[in-house]
Amino acid sequence: METRTNKVCVKVPASTANLGPGFDTLGMALNLYAWIEMGVTDTTKIHLFGEQMDGIPTDKSNLIYEVAQMVFDKAGVAVPELEISMYSDIPLTRGLGSSAAAIVGALAAANALIGSPLSDDSLFQMATSLEQHPDNVGASLFGGLVVAFWDGNRAEYVRVEPDDRLEVLVAIPHFQLSTEKARNVLPREQSLENAVFNVGHSSVLVAALCTGRLDMLPRAMKDALHQPYRAPLVPGLSTILDEATEHGALGVALSGAGPTMLALVERGSGRKAELERFLRETLRREQIEATMLWLKPSSSGVELMTHFDPQCTLFENIKGEVRA
Ligand code: HSE
Repeated sequence: METRTNKVCVKVPASTANLGPGFDTLGMALNLYAWIEMGVTDTTKIHLFGEQMDGIPTDKSNLIYEVAQMVFDKAGVAVPELEISMYSDIPLTRGLGSSAAAIVGALAAANALIGSPLSDDSLFQMATSLEQHPDNVGASLFGGLVVAFWDGNRAEYVRVEPDDRLEVLVAIPHFQLSTEKARNVLPREQSLENAVFNVGHSSVLVAALCTGRLDMLPRAMKDALHQPYRAPLVPGLSTILDEATEHGALGVALSGAGPTMLALVERGSGRKAELERFLRETLRREQIEATMLWLKPSSSGVELMTHFDPQCTLFENIKGEVRA
């Protein structure tokens, strides 16, 4: 018997897609989060908190509202009026999966609100067809490392527990780059040589991450399918891709479609400050200001907050967890 509730809150992680050579296929959840509270009400109200929320619709054309309605349609129930509050620590349009997190959070919250009639697989299929790439949404939904493909009809994935020795340094440039713009610079056709390069590197990278072979990451993280074409959109990226491993990174990649750059680092490394300085100075030479964040892979995907008090505001409920 399904149990309905009047209000739920979910916590959903950011993600990095295209990990190294895993273009559109390899995603990892990161411990940077957004929270979505959703409740049944009489008149729809949408409250958005966090940076860069100006201009995002707060009426029924809001993405979270629209995605929630898709869940209700699929489940055959009507919940036309919703009160939605969202707070996000995930920067928008920077390659850290903010839209995937919004989609996954909306799907999970709406499903929970009506007693969770839809399976995780069903939510994954819906999220992938909305986002078009399974790696971000898979990581936000299931946490950890998600190895996935989508044939335009069904998405498949295998989740891998991330190595607990891994830490992640992200350099988030202070400019936005839309996935659409970054996708438009990619050639429609690729050489067999590039395809073989990425299949080989991606296969070795996944095998290395599954077997704890962190020593293999500096060689396996390389990509020939998208980073070379996107480098002109992100000043400093080429230098960082070529040289970060000489400054203590295990591997380095453009996060998703960029402009954020991500370096994997071994937890006990004594070279973290050197690596951070190298990234900052390389970007500064290109007049790019960037925020540096030390993150970790998030083992958890989207979670229903069980210690959530429906009488409190979203901020009261998440106090102590947000970065700001
Ligand atoms: N994989 C997508 C791309 C972005 O690189 O265009 C994130 O899903």
